Amino acid sequence: MCGIVGYIGGKNTKEILLNGLKELEYRGYDSAGIAILSEGSFNSFKAVGKLVNLEEKIKDFTTEKFAVGIGHTRWATHGKPTELNAHPHLGESSYVVHNGIIENYAALKKELVDEGVTFLSQTDTEVIVHLFEKNLKSATDVFAAFRQTITQLEGAYAILLATKSKPDTIFFAKQGSPLLVGINAEDEKYFASSDTPLIGQCESVNYFEDGDFGYVTPSEIVIYGTNGKQKQPHLSKLATNKLSAQKDGYRFFMEKEIYEQSDVITDTLLGRLSEDAVVFEELSDDLFDGVNEIKLCACGTSYHAALSASYLFERYSKVRCCVEIASEFRYREPIMNKDTLFIVISQSGETADTLETLKMAKNAGLKTLAICNVDNSSMVRLADATILTRAGVEKGVASTKAFATQVTIFWMLSLHVAKLRNTLKPQEITKQIELIRQIPASVKVDDAMHERIKRLSKRYLHGHGFFFIGRDIFFPLALEGALKLKEISYLHAEGYPSGEMKHGPIALADPELFTIALLPQNLLYEKSKSNVEELSARDSTICAISPLAFEKADDFIQTKGYDHYMLEFFEMMVVVQLLSLEVSIRLGNDVDMPRNLAKSVTVE
Ligand code: M6R
Repeated sequence: MCGIVGYIGGKNTKEILLNGLKELEYRGYDSAGIAILSEGSFNSFKAVGKLVNLEEKIKDFTTEKFAVGIGHTRWATHGKPTELNAHPHLGESSYVVHNGIIENYAALKKELVDEGVTFLSQTDTEVIVHLFEKNLKSATDVFAAFRQTITQLEGAYAILLATKSKPDTIFFAKQGSPLLVGINAEDEKYFASSDTPLIGQCESVNYFEDGDFGYVTPSEIVIYGTNGKQKQPHLSKLATNKLSAQKDGYRFFMEKEIYEQSDVITDTLLGRLSEDAVVFEELSDDLFDGVNEIKLCACGTSYHAALSASYLFERYSKVRCCVEIASEFRYREPIMNKDTLFIVISQSGETADTLETLKMAKNAGLKTLAICNVDNSSMVRLADATILTRAGVEKGVASTKAFATQVTIFWMLSLHVAKLRNTLKPQEITKQIELIRQIPASVKVDDAMHERIKRLSKRYLHGHGFFFIGRDIFFPLALEGALKLKEISYLHAEGYPSGEMKHGPIALADPELFTIALLPQNLLYEKSKSNVEELSARDSTICAISPLAFEKADDFIQTKGYDHYMLEFFEMMVVVQLLSLEVSIRLGNDVDMPRNLAKSVTVE
C-alpha cells in the first residue's frame, strides 16, 4: 500500500508533489509527508490523516528554485498513524520514502541501535535511511552506499531516497511494489507508484521491474537490474488523456461509479461480441488447449468475481474450476498441474497476495491469464495473457464497477470456452450473447429504485448483524453485498448460501438480525424462498430483493426482473451496492475512504 512520488526540476516542487499525492491518496490516507531539498537544505513536512491536513499545514511554504522532492501517502503497517511514523523518514542528512514492508527491519534496527543510532519512529522504513548513512561513511561513493543498502534489505519495497551528499539526485529501488519514472522535454523527472500522477506532466515513462535500483538526475536515468548490470531505460509513451476523476455532481465517487456501470460495461463489450461468438483478440487461439482445470485466484471483491466465474465455467464451459483466496493459496503448498489455466483477477493489478500467486503459477509452468483493470500493472506485465476489464479509474475504495466488469468478462469468457469446446449449442451461445448485450441496461440506476433504497436505508442502521443470502451464483453476490456493507458502514455483515443458514447461523435469528435475501425468479426461486421463510418464521427482519412479491418480507425491493438469471444478477448487484451506499451515508461515514482501508493492497 502507500503511494510515493518524486520530482527533480525547477518548477513548483511543493505543488507537484502534492498533486501527485492527491492522485495516489486512494492507496492510503493515514498520514502524508514531503521532503524538498533545494539550495543545499531540506524542508520537510508531515501531517496525520488525509492529504488536506498536509496541504493546510504547508500553505505558506513556497518552492521556486531547482529542487529534488519526495513525498508519501501512508497506509500504516508498522506503527500507528502518527506524525513521527509518517514518511519521509530522516537520517542525518537524507530522507527516504517507502512503500512495502522491510521484513528484516527488526534485526537491522537492533544492529543500528547497538551502534548508537537513535530511531524516531516505529516504522520498518526508518532503517533504510540509517543503514544508508552508515554505509555512506565507508563507501567509495554515494551510489555505492545506496547499492549496499539495497542488498541488505529483505521484503517488498519501492524506495526513493534524497540526500544532501548528492543534492540533484534521487536514488530508487523496486522489489515487489510498483514504481515508475517519467520524463519530459524540459528535463524534469517524476517518480510515482502509478502512472496517473504523471499524465499531463511527462511524455514517456519507464516502469521499473522487480530488482531494479539506481539513480536519476536532471540529465540521466541510471538503472541496474537484478544481475547487478546496468541496463537501458525502457521508455514507453504515456497516455495523454487523464480519465475524468471528478465526482460530476455525485456525493461520492462510489455513487458515481455505481451510476457509471452501464457505460463502462458497454466499453467492456466493445468489439468483443459478434452475433454468434465472443471475440477476445488479446487471447491466442491455443490458450485453452490441453486445459483440464481452471484455477481462479484473487482477494476481496475480485475473489467474489472469481467465485461467480466458477459457476459459469462449470455450467457453460464444462471445465473443472476451483477458486482460491490468494493470501491462503500462497502458503499452503498447493498442487499445481500443468493442465491448469491459472487466472488472477484484480482491479489494480498490484495486490501483493494475488501477484505472488501469479508468480508461483508462472514458476510452476502453468499458463496464466490476468483479468485486470489497469494496463501496465504488475500482473498485466507478468501474465502470459490479459483481458482488460475497461472499467476506467475506480476511486472509491469500495469496488463496484470493477466487479461489474469482471463478472461481465467471465460470462463472456465462459461462452468463449463453451464455443471452443462445443459444450453449448450454437443457438444457445447466440441467445446468451444477445443477453450479454442487455447487461448495460440491467445495471442502469432507476431513480425511483434509488429513492426507495434511500428511504429504506434508515431502517438498517443498527442491529446485531446482517446476513446477505443467495443460492448458486447469487451466493457470491451475497458475499459481495455483505463486503460492501461492512467496509463502508462498519456494521457486521456476512454473506451466506441460503440453504446453509439452517446449519448454524439461523440460531442468531431474531428481529435485530437483518436478512437481505436475493430471490431471483429464474434460478432456484422456490428453494430460496423456503430458506427465507425459515428465517421469517424465526422472526428475523427480512428485506427481500426480487421481481416477485414476497408476503413474508418486512421490506421488499422489487426489481424489474429479466428472463435470464444473469441479468437478474446484475440488477440485484446494483441494489446491494446502493443499499450499502445509503446506509453508509446515513451513518455519516466517508464512503470513498472508509477507515482502516486502502484502494490498493500492495502488502501481504
Ligand atoms: O485490486 P484488487 O482487485 O486485487 O483488490 C482486491 C481487494 O483488495 C479489493 O477488491 C477490496 O476487497 C475492495 N475494497 C472491495 O471493495
